[in-house]
Amino acid sequence: MGIGPFELGQPRVHLGRFPTPLHRADDLGDLLGTADLWIKRDDLTGFSWGGNKVRPAEFLVADAMANGASELIVSGGPSSNFAAIIAVAGRVHGMRVHQVCYGSEPDRPFAALAAARQSGAAVTFTGSADRSTMDAVGKELAAEHARQGRVAYTIPRGGASDVGALGFVHAALELGDQLDAAGIDRATIVMPVGSGGSASGLVAGTAVAGRRWVTVGASVSRPPDETEAGILDKAVRCAALTGVALSPDRAANHLRVHDARGAGFGMADPEEARLADAVSQSTGLLVDATYNAKAMRWLATVDHLEPPVIYWHTGGALGAIDRLVLTSPEQTSS
Ligand SMILES: Cc1ncc(COP(=O)(O)O)c(C=O)c1O
Repeated sequence: MGIGPFELGQPRVHLGRFPTPLHRADDLGDLLGTADLWIKRDDLTGFSWGGNKVRPAEFLVADAMANGASELIVSGGPSSNFAAIIAVAGRVHGMRVHQVCYGSEPDRPFAALAAARQSGAAVTFTGSADRSTMDAVGKELAAEHARQGRVAYTIPRGGASDVGALGFVHAALELGDQLDAAGIDRATIVMPVGSGGSASGLVAGTAVAGRRWVTVGASVSRPPDETEAGILDKAVRCAALTGVALSPDRAANHLRVHDARGAGFGMADPEEARLADAVSQSTGLLVDATYNAKAMRWLATVDHLEPPVIYWHTGGALGAIDRLVLTSPEQTSS
């Protein structure tokens, strides 16, 4: 399989099925107490386990191929949906994938790590709980490959590079077409935020598409200030890749970030778990504990957001499986 046509001035391989649906979600709106709620279905991106991370993977794998890489080195913890998608995408495109994970072999199964291994990814643990060790070990691995005459392409956590963020610039253009068809001009977009790569692309894409949307990020892993600064930096650089000059101030007009960490990264507190179950049972949507349960819970606690509100469902099917397995009666009673 080759690199697809260039898009946004960059190579892209086609993995997903786009556009993902956008539709009104009155049932979810009732549960979350949000009027005029729409949902953007990136749980249905149509490649492997799906989710938002299919979008950056399309630009990153293409960039790796364009740089002559035969190997992808990706940083990601055992629950990383992104590393799992890269493992599958690399395999499909004939590239070896090496996942660098913090810590040591976990003592319970993680669906994402199992999915990466099932696609043939080699996994190296850094031996330290400090997540930044993944970046250092990834660099060492890339240097080792270079000494052996092989080109490796190193991908940061969550695919949050300027190139990776292009996936969500593309998503913004896609959303623009859908909102035009629905006759919607202004919108408030709510999404769970981890590395911030997706929100960076969306903010950059809002400017590239000349729209007036505001992205509201529910930060699940870092303090909001730190997250916001990272998103804005990357949005500016990502817009520049597409030839659009975006000032930090203008980017900031399109972004708000709030604290949705709750009990901590990867841990659903009882209210989040209750809401996730209620959403699954009354709408059929899958809800993972790490990202969407926290973002939905945050949305449910907010008094007012400028309508219409678009909830960007980022997928997380592998995390939803973990949540089921870990909280099923068979597991909790043993
Ligand atoms: C299901 C899901 N939702 C949201 C996110 C957050 O996206 P980002 O890291 O681009 O902020 C991730 C990141 O891996 C994810 O897997």
